[in-house]
Amino acid sequence: MHSMFNNGMTAGPVECLGHTFRNDDARREHFLKLLAEKLKDPEFRNQEGFPQGADEAILAMSDPPYYTACPNPWLRDFIACYGKPYDPCESYSREPLAIDVSVGKTDQLYKAHGYHTKVPHLAIVPSILHYTEPGDIVLDGFAGSGMTGVAAQWCGSAPAVYRHGLEMEWKTQGKPAPKWGARRVILNDLSPAATFIAANYNLPFDVDAFAKAGKQLLKDIEDEIGWMYETSHTDGKTKGKIRYTVWSEVLACASCAGEVVFTTAALDEKTHRVRDVLTCPHCGAQAKKEQMDLQFESFLDPATTQMEKRPKRVPVLIWYQVGKTAYSKKPDRDDIERVAKIALLPLPTEVPTDRLPDCQMTRVGRMKTTNSLAVHYMFLPRAAQAMGLLWRKATIHPDESIRSMLLFMVEQAIWGMSTLARYTPTHFSQVNQYLSGVFYVSSQHAECSPWYILDGKLSRLSKAFRKFNAARIAISNTGTAARLSLAEASIDYIFTDPPFGENIYYADLNLLVESWHRVKSDPIAEAIVDRVRLKGVSEYQDLMHDCFREYYRVLKPGRWMTVVFSNSRAAVWNAIQVGLQQAGFVVAEVSALNKVQGSFQQVMSTTAVKQDLVISVYKPNGGLEQRLSQRGASTESAWDFVETHLRQLPVTKHRDGELEQVVERDPRRVYDRMVAWFVRHDYPVPLSSDEFLTGLQQRDFPERDGMIFLPSQVGEYDKKRAQVEHSPQMELFVSDERSAIDWLADFLKKRPSTYQEVHPEFITQLGAGWRKHEEKPELTALLEDNFLRYQGTGPVPTQISNYLSKNFHDCRGLDKEDSHLIAKAKERWYVPDPNKAADLEQRREKSLLKEFETYRNHTGRRLREFRLEVLRAGFKAAWSQKDLQTIIKVAGKIPEVALQEDEKLLLWYDQALTLTEAGG
Ligand SMILES: C[S@@+](CC[C@H](N)C(=O)[O-])C[C@H]1O[C@@H](n2cnc3c(N)ncnc32)[C@H](O)[C@@H]1O
Repeated sequence: MHSMFNNGMTAGPVECLGHTFRNDDARREHFLKLLAEKLKDPEFRNQEGFPQGADEAILAMSDPPYYTACPNPWLRDFIACYGKPYDPCESYSREPLAIDVSVGKTDQLYKAHGYHTKVPHLAIVPSILHYTEPGDIVLDGFAGSGMTGVAAQWCGSAPAVYRHGLEMEWKTQGKPAPKWGARRVILNDLSPAATFIAANYNLPFDVDAFAKAGKQLLKDIEDEIGWMYETSHTDGKTKGKIRYTVWSEVLACASCAGEVVFTTAALDEKTHRVRDVLTCPHCGAQAKKEQMDLQFESFLDPATTQMEKRPKRVPVLIWYQVGKTAYSKKPDRDDIERVAKIALLPLPTEVPTDRLPDCQMTRVGRMKTTNSLAVHYMFLPRAAQAMGLLWRKATIHPDESIRSMLLFMVEQAIWGMSTLARYTPTHFSQVNQYLSGVFYVSSQHAECSPWYILDGKLSRLSKAFRKFNAARIAISNTGTAARLSLAEASIDYIFTDPPFGENIYYADLNLLVESWHRVKSDPIAEAIVDRVRLKGVSEYQDLMHDCFREYYRVLKPGRWMTVVFSNSRAAVWNAIQVGLQQAGFVVAEVSALNKVQGSFQQVMSTTAVKQDLVISVYKPNGGLEQRLSQRGASTESAWDFVETHLRQLPVTKHRDGELEQVVERDPRRVYDRMVAWFVRHDYPVPLSSDEFLTGLQQRDFPERDGMIFLPSQVGEYDKKRAQVEHSPQMELFVSDERSAIDWLADFLKKRPSTYQEVHPEFITQLGAGWRKHEEKPELTALLEDNFLRYQGTGPVPTQISNYLSKNFHDCRGLDKEDSHLIAKAKERWYVPDPNKAADLEQRREKSLLKEFETYRNHTGRRLREFRLEVLRAGFKAAWSQKDLQTIIKVAGKIPEVALQEDEKLLLWYDQALTLTEAGG
């Protein structure tokens, strides 16, 4: 398959950033020299997010200008050379697109290099095709292993069968055919370990030469250290090749102080399970593992030349092969002597001896109790010899791109050869059986041989990359997404998968690999919740806000960003939402893809389960911003926002042949987005919610099935609606007063009911998902404040008469003033029409503000229970009076978590804080 870009793998002249070089080596040499000079500049090195590492180490990892293991000085040149300047007259229009991030998890290329929380490239491809054209520039600032780059390249190199499949799929969805062709891409990550993976995924190399070099490397180390992994077969003559050795920790019996080998005492050979209670082989006493002390032995730490302690571990089982057949045995005297001999060898210089910092990952997972203080403590002597040799052999390969790929392969053995590799007898393979996302040192360790881990890896890598021919169209940068040296309005689309609060400590975890490269992440700039580094949710929100602001700056107006997000905590979700809106983005769609796990509303609630969300946001086009700055916060600018926003929203959404509610078209949601827009521009909100509701009527924004449209959109909706049987259903999950009102509105719309009828149904909604500090409302008050009751005078309201005549035989076709109908309709609650609703809203707002006064005047301890609706109304009113102190003062009276868990309160509060801190 031909790509539109030359991948530079042929000998001879190459083009790079507008220059032509004799060959690719000359290109590399030229830019390495420039990078070496740049690294001497203290200002360059002082940048926020700059990784920790010596010049030589950074240069050794880098392949400039395509990849630098530090901030990349050529990002601007890349854009200047290959990008298109922003043109306000260019017509560009897209609807938001939700993708399924679980697609492609079994793909070989996806699995070619592991990384925490990878998003498969095949999940990203449709998104890039949808939002961009060939040659456009895509950015991912939290790129991790660079799957966005692979996806951008895949758009140009996808095989015919893939193209055909996607074209058919889009055709059935009524979408125009995708425009195939690679897109250029900028990949950034704070972690050098991540960008090294990303760069190697995205740069071309000679796969055959790599496969050959990989084989040779594995053979060379076999020639040198094969003897370390030999063992005698049961016939006493044949030599077996060890696949892995199981090491067990040794404990001391609490009764007799005799040594208890954990695996021998705990492992049930039949079930392969570990017993809870261990029996001492010396005195027969029984105890749990936790009741016994771990035994330590002394050793001379070559890094400090001090005597140190490490857990006493003994080999208990060897799995080996003779030919292709696998056998197991208990270690014999020769085996023990062999490991003792290896332990006397000097530590290879390649093995890092860095002390591990005090961080969350070294505080958990038995890292402290096993005294795992430094990187070299995490490798048993034989594994240290093997890993050191693998690294040495890879780094001395003369060809730069092959050398890089050899390291790409070899570094994948680091976790699997360290003491993090657990022995899991219930699994057939012991390769990479470490716990992911944490450092955890198990009591039983499977010390694997390099060939056991890498033989298969090498052939899988060669196979995967043979099918994927990277071009030189990606550029990788190592630094913080908060400071990208890119020009304003230069990017056509952003796809990004940021850290999700406290899920994964990337910088801590990547230390293990980065210490081998001798270049490490700057943890200060890391956008996560990190207990040890004192980053709470609000610090996380600030860090994310900085990154989103940078995204906003570099994205072209009118263009889109897709944020993939996975977390169950409402506070973290709100931090993301507020960060996005404060940066200036407008949220157009939030999709929860995995329906099995819970509905969208559940995701937003505090008790939610973990969910993958896809958030589609756009940077409003220049016109809207300009008009706002000319007009200021006027009614007209509010309606201008509403119109522009509705234009960006999808008209319909389908799932399994049914129409789905477009949540963002809900008038309340549109109102919230409008409010956020003005708040973020430091303007008062020009419309109250009742003015908004009446305005919708007067200004001809047609409503269908609880959603609002532009007149130009409604025809399309009606057409699609006529093709399906059911109207789209709103998903409602009651967690606070607001959602309780929404639930009631939905219920009463379908079924105008008396208090007695609605009460039992309502009660079932106020379950476990109710927010902790939110006062539970009385049904009567909710009904009175938000709905109308037919009291039996005058004609029966249409909503009730329609319902009765449809559902009761005896009411069919009766006149609205018929006494039977009136009797049946009496005392039923129903949803007011928009004019009436605006009146009610006004009345309700008044009473909310009255109650807010009592909050404001509350003295003494913090408010433990309150109404979020009161706080929201109060904050909004204070904002419009520029009374920022009230917002800050009242916010101080409620628990921090309640603030963080409410997107609207958080928005006002944060903006108030920012302005007061700035002296505004
Ligand atoms: C969820 S992961 C991305 C994984 C990626 N989607 C993949 O497929 O490999 C988030 C990444 O953000 C990075 N990160 C954390 N803080 C950052 C910052 N301030 N700037 C840039 N990257 C950051 C982490 O190092 C991590 O690699």
